[in-house]
Amino acid sequence: MNRPAAHELPAWGSLARLAARLSPVPLRNLLDDDARGAALRVRLNGLLFDFTRQRVDPAALAELLSLAEQRDWQGRVRQLVEGGAVNTTENRPALHTALRSPPGEAPEAAREVPGTLSRMERFAGAVTCGSWTGCSGRAITDVVNVGIGGSDLGPRLVVDALQPHDGRPALHFVPNIDGHVISKTLAGLDPETTLFIIASKSFTTRETRVNGETARSWFLERTNRPDAIGRHFVGVTGNREAAAAFGLPRENLFPMWDWVGGRYSLWSPVGLPIMLALGTAAFAELLGGAHTMDRHFQTAPAAGNAPLLAALLGIWNIDFLGAANHAVLPYDQRLRLLPDYLQQLETESNGKRVRHDGSPVGVHTAPVVWGGIGTTGQHAFHQLLHQGTRAFSADFIVCAATEHGLEEHHRWLVANALSQGKAMAAGNDAHDPHRAVRGNHATSTIVLDRLAPATIGALLAFYEHKVFCQGLIWDINSFDQWGVELGKQLAVTVFGQLAGESTRGQDRTTRSLVEHLIEQGRA
Ligand code: F6P
Repeated sequence: MNRPAAHELPAWGSLARLAARLSPVPLRNLLDDDARGAALRVRLNGLLFDFTRQRVDPAALAELLSLAEQRDWQGRVRQLVEGGAVNTTENRPALHTALRSPPGEAPEAAREVPGTLSRMERFAGAVTCGSWTGCSGRAITDVVNVGIGGSDLGPRLVVDALQPHDGRPALHFVPNIDGHVISKTLAGLDPETTLFIIASKSFTTRETRVNGETARSWFLERTNRPDAIGRHFVGVTGNREAAAAFGLPRENLFPMWDWVGGRYSLWSPVGLPIMLALGTAAFAELLGGAHTMDRHFQTAPAAGNAPLLAALLGIWNIDFLGAANHAVLPYDQRLRLLPDYLQQLETESNGKRVRHDGSPVGVHTAPVVWGGIGTTGQHAFHQLLHQGTRAFSADFIVCAATEHGLEEHHRWLVANALSQGKAMAAGNDAHDPHRAVRGNHATSTIVLDRLAPATIGALLAFYEHKVFCQGLIWDINSFDQWGVELGKQLAVTVFGQLAGESTRGQDRTTRSLVEHLIEQGRA
């Protein structure tokens, strides 16, 4: 299909003019307009999305909505959820929404989902009630998820945020190939009561294969029970052959379909650690919360559509107001892994420089996404946010209710979140240049009534749809990640050279670093 580039759309030029007109207007001058405020707040099922501290006026907002119209955003959303091949370089759909659709509503491609969910539930139930035992007949006490990227970040975030119930197995995550991670994890475990989940869609990911092999050797060396691999190792993968060749019994494999992208996969069997740690009901609530957001995304008009608004405001910040980076600032310790999760979701999806047809995008795409929890970050990097020289945008994520019962703590936490956003927006009037805070930085505030599976599900689905909408405006493929391949290939050669193969043909810097590392590694 022949689509114009983003900057060739009629709304793009108007937005550039509106941005030039708005740029001298301090953000603080926009904040007290009630009508503007009402247009920039969306409340839905346990979440509030407050975009009122964005640097938009009604004219810019209207033009951003026209931009979405000019891209036929609703048609593209239909294409996404109905299973169109939105991942054009791999000619695949991206049907993560089907993973949380009620049975009967999902497209045909997702027909195996309900049966797979039941299998996951039976398995998780057997492990947690103790009928699935380890090789010596004892119940499983620890589960180690071996996986990286999308096969790690989602389940790790949710398990960490929602704190497993007592009596369930303890969850451990081993993503990195750095041997410190797996050796530290295994050091405290009993092989007879440990279950490994090897999670890899491709089953070719080096980190997961090497960690998986180390886990298997650790188990066999300590138990001498090759016959018991099936009680201690299960797999989540789209590559059954490779998983079977690795030694995983086929009946222990849970599917990962090619129409689910890794970073969109926590709703699939990749979420098995969530079910094991939090129970099947919690997993169902997580899916339910995400589905609520899917319905909202598909049915709410543009002006009140939270993911679409977030996407458009993001594009406004990135392409018209020069914000090259975006900070994710959860003011809730339980969401400390959210910046990492969103970093992969946003940057692996939209860190692209060419359009679907291979031509240059012509404008900036995904910002650098980073962040950290409040209030800890206030005593570290917030100085740069308040007085540094670079433009940025930020999302504050706050929970209204908390469970620890320490009211004063919570009130201070929330007071800080709201005040940081205020300072970033409005700054101060200090005359001393060292004390002056300029403000004018766009932020959004997302309030969860309480942290629960349903609200986390809705929050993560919100971000998935935000990313999709930005991709469709930029006309890029948000569902591939070819850029990561080069480094993987180069590492194979260097790996051999570190083991003594000839460095002939290697560039000078790499060669001398290889030699240095070999020499110092021996010392
Ligand atoms: O290298 C990037 C990547 O392919 C991610 O997109 C993915 O989430 C991660 O690696 C893990 O991939 P797999 O599940 O195939 O091991």
